[in-house]
Amino acid sequence: MSVRIPVARPEMGEPEWQAIREVVESGWVTQGPRVEAFEKAMAEYCGAEHGVAVSSCTTALHLALVVAGVGPGDEVVVPSMSFIATANAVAHTGATPVFAEVEPDTFNLDLADVERRITERTRAVLLVHQLGLPADIDGTHRLAERHGLAVVEDAACAVGSSYAGGRIGSHSELVCFSFHPRKLLTTGDGGMVLTSSAEHAERLRRLRQHGMSVNDRVRSSSTSVIRESYLEVAWNYRLTDLQAAMGIEQLKRLPAMLERRAALAARYDAALADHPLIDTPPVPEGVTWNVQTYTARLRGADAAARDAVMQHMLDAGIATRAGVMTAHREPAYADRGCSLPVSERASDGSLVLPLFPAMTDDQVDECARALVEAVAATGLG
Ligand SMILES: Cc1ncc(COP(=O)(O)O)c(C=O)c1O
Repeated sequence: MSVRIPVARPEMGEPEWQAIREVVESGWVTQGPRVEAFEKAMAEYCGAEHGVAVSSCTTALHLALVVAGVGPGDEVVVPSMSFIATANAVAHTGATPVFAEVEPDTFNLDLADVERRITERTRAVLLVHQLGLPADIDGTHRLAERHGLAVVEDAACAVGSSYAGGRIGSHSELVCFSFHPRKLLTTGDGGMVLTSSAEHAERLRRLRQHGMSVNDRVRSSSTSVIRESYLEVAWNYRLTDLQAAMGIEQLKRLPAMLERRAALAARYDAALADHPLIDTPPVPEGVTWNVQTYTARLRGADAAARDAVMQHMLDAGIATRAGVMTAHREPAYADRGCSLPVSERASDGSLVLPLFPAMTDDQVDECARALVEAVAATGLG
């Protein structure tokens, strides 16, 4: 049977088309006024001082780590249970990602395990808000202070989530977001670093644009000739104005998206409550979750049992995805022979259920029913 209910579907339409059309008609399609306006809008929404738009969250993380002082010979503690870009961003700086365990219920970093993995080479902790659920930011800051480390937040999935009364983006010096289509806001691809530091913002802007000393907006509005210089070896990690124009429209949709996602998650929670073999995602005290991705956790299931449940659902026309990957078991990092049993169990025993704003209540009920049936049919139940 073909897929009737996809896992995710971005919200976009006429306002995005119109905004992109205006950029095309303006003739200024990269590093122009829309990029600046999108940076300002994101920083204001999230409660940060500065925004620096880049081509993806991976490139945002790379640059954030560079400005945090991470480089060859350093170690950065990261969760293995995260999309592999988290670890890769560390590797791109020449530093070594050191994998730590996650908590079995929230899938966020286990800070006791992080502390055990700190050495004299550790320079930073990369704190992921997995699936958009805020991790323990205060605990991470306290740990980082004790050991003299930088904290970079990987908030790829967490736009619109809050922690201790402040939106994600307002708590740390460097917080990175993704605008890939699986996230709440999409610009096709794209990313942003939010920072409380004017100095970091200035260097991030330079690093995304080949290390150039002058930005295009300053040069084009100057009445005297400006010659740029290239202050350090850097990258082309620019976001275009076409993407930024789309991002501005997407941000306007965010409050409605958050409300609908919360309602859909509550419906799943109610439908799956009290099932002896299915756990729903917990939301700790003091946080609000944007429900970027809703995962069900199958008690005692290994990857084969979970995959059988996924196949059963696919046969009923419902797409799902395996739980968050573990980087340490991928060929790119497997040579370290690392074992992380909590992360492995969490990854193998979970699956992503469909959730997107245009989904109907009936579709949520159908997906929950199909999951319960699949668990029973595959011998888990
Ligand atoms: C936790 C995390 N970090 C980083 C990324 C990379 O984001 P991007 O695709 O924008 O580079 C993702 C993407 O899924 C992610 O989930």
